[in-house]
Amino acid sequence: MLNDSIHYVQSELYCDDVPVSAIAADIGTPVYIYSLKRILDNLQRIRTAFADVNPHIHYSAKANANLTILRTLINAGAGIDAVSAGEIHKALLVGTKPEDIVFAGVGKTRNEIRYALEQNVGWFNVENALELQHINDLTAELKREPARVALRLNPDITAATHRYIATGHKAAKFGLSIQTVKDLLKKRSQFPHVKLEGIHIHIGSQLHNTAATRRAVEVALECLAPYPEIRTVNIGGGMAVRYSTDEDIPKWEDFGAAISPLLKNYHVILEPGRSLVADAGILAISVLYFKEQGGEPILITDGSMAELIRPALYEAHHEIVPVTKSPSPDTDLNFHVVGPVCESADALGHNISLARMEPGSLLAVLTAGAYGMVMSSNYNQRLRPPEVVVETDGKSWRLARRRETWEDLTATEIF
Ligand code: LLP
Repeated sequence: MLNDSIHYVQSELYCDDVPVSAIAADIGTPVYIYSLKRILDNLQRIRTAFADVNPHIHYSAKANANLTILRTLINAGAGIDAVSAGEIHKALLVGTKPEDIVFAGVGKTRNEIRYALEQNVGWFNVENALELQHINDLTAELKREPARVALRLNPDITAATHRYIATGHKAAKFGLSIQTVKDLLKKRSQFPHVKLEGIHIHIGSQLHNTAATRRAVEVALECLAPYPEIRTVNIGGGMAVRYSTDEDIPKWEDFGAAISPLLKNYHVILEPGRSLVADAGILAISVLYFKEQGGEPILITDGSMAELIRPALYEAHHEIVPVTKSPSPDTDLNFHVVGPVCESADALGHNISLARMEPGSLLAVLTAGAYGMVMSSNYNQRLRPPEVVVETDGKSWRLARRRETWEDLTATEIF
């Protein structure tokens, strides 16, 4: 979706004050382009939406782990929500204070737990009784101060979102059942080397209503009721962004309003990912060919499911717009916009209304800043694309990751 940063100036698409075509001419396509200004604006908007509970915001690095983006958010006062030792490593590399990292994840290995303890990360979001035991035992073994732990509750609430990214229903692999949370809280003296100080919920991503989140918070608070000394509630991420003009989603203020009255006297942690970065990023691609098959107009581009897998994996819709608008838009056709990868799932969009495009024309896949580059692959031995940032002044831009080379492609192989 277009916004204040990803916008047209007359018929040219800009990222802040920089024409997308200028970046593409210099760096080539496909290329991810991010507005750092928009990311900071989003951070501010989230802070405002949740102002009543003054949350500590831990950016969910899984949405986009580019080091420049991590550093930008850290410098603006955010912490990090990490789900692997690799994400902790990247967070520390850009100067995140260890105490500002929460370590989440359904399957932390003992080595990852050991690493996180050695690095003194602030919180563990625990999803398994044995994991709690590991943290307890390793803390003792490493002679550390007791680690802070939040139990991740599976509140048995089905979130309104795509089934692949709903996480709060009973049969999901995520979290601990209500009964398990209650049991662990009751016997927490059996874990003397952890400080069980919080509860964590995350019922899904791209949430289409606030009622389920509110209900999940209520269930969490019911679990905590016998333990008034436990004061931290981590409500995860999940705030939705608009991928198309007709997508009906709650405002972030609505999420804030839904949970704030419940959490007045609590220390609140938020783990937003998508909401901070999605609409700050685009994937710029070039048209290679046009063909019509079975009466369907198809644009074949140099962007594919290897660079952006969301449409193939979730049938997610991303708007795709011309970088230079045609002067005669009334000739629009509804295109399939596809990539060169050898499978039919490889499309970036269907039913995309565009004017006829010459080979070499540039397109922009919008709202691609979250779960884009991080989910990219070398499938078909494609080179993963570069990432460009437009700095917060809106004017200067630079490469934040170079395009991969054939050397990168073979660097880890032994033959
Ligand atoms: N906290 C936890 C525990 C999570 O599992 C997630 C996302 C977040 C926070 C951040 O959620 P967000 O604010 O981004 O909704 N690849 C999928 C999304 C997967 C989300 C996984 N967990 C997609 O492209 O839609």
